[in-house]
Amino acid sequence: MLKLISVLILFVSSVFGYFTLPGKCPENVQLQSEFRLADFFNKWHQVYHYSSDEQQLNNCSVLELSTRPDGIYLNQSRVDRGLFHRYSIGKLEIPTTIEDAARLDVTFHFKDQPRRLVNRRYPFRVLATNYNYYATVYTCEYSPLIDKHFIYVWILSRNPILNDVSKELAIKPLPRIGVDSKRLVKDDLSKCTPKYYEDRKAEPMTFRYPVKMFT
Ligand SMILES: *[C@@H]1O[C@H](CO)[C@@H](O)[C@H](O)[C@H]1NC(C)=O
Ligand SMILES: *[C@@H]1O[C@H](CO)[C@@H](O)[C@H](O)[C@H]1NC(C)=O
Repeated sequence: MLKLISVLILFVSSVFGYFTLPGKCPENVQLQSEFRLADFFNKWHQVYHYSSDEQQLNNCSVLELSTRPDGIYLNQSRVDRGLFHRYSIGKLEIPTTIEDAARLDVTFHFKDQPRRLVNRRYPFRVLATNYNYYATVYTCEYSPLIDKHFIYVWILSRNPILNDVSKELAIKPLPRIGVDSKRLVKDDLSKCTPKYYEDRKAEPMTFRYPVKMFT
């Protein structure tokens, strides 16, 4: 009983810490028009990010799309505490209509979990990109339990340094999801060689809430 209560307290406090923005996720958000997934492949560096819970749980994050025989996968890699190189692999769900092309979802598969937690699906929405320099992507999760949401924004760059013009274009769509570009955090890409190299699969840090809560 005590154990159950402490689990419950942990659950409730993590919900409150994670979901901090009032109400539902932004609706009817205008995304990149005529998004071309084929041009979005290969590596992207996370050069700025915004996490509505203000936690920074990854450094030197690189996102990479690649094709496997059974579909298209997103590999999100990072350096943990300057020590470990880790990555998470999610499968992309490709929208069937051209109008919805930028409305991607990514599903992470967790073995050895209760059945309802094995597959966790999160939105991965492309707000803007010019494919060669910058991309602005966001995810959002809503908790009906406390009527609050969580937003994470990636400002991605093909090169480790994003030029000023591209940065302006990348941050332009942020008001559509109610994010103030002043709150973006610049990623430090100067210490991206981990001390101990451990190329290991791990839980994604940008999609942390285990239950699919997006509506
Ligand atoms: C994911 O990306 C990282 C960094 O590029 C790489 O080291 C790792 O091997 C990749 N994992 C898979 C399964 O492709
Ligand atoms: C990210 O890097 C900073 C500075 O190098 C370090 O203090 C912090 O612990 C790192 N965070 C993670 C989650 O690796």
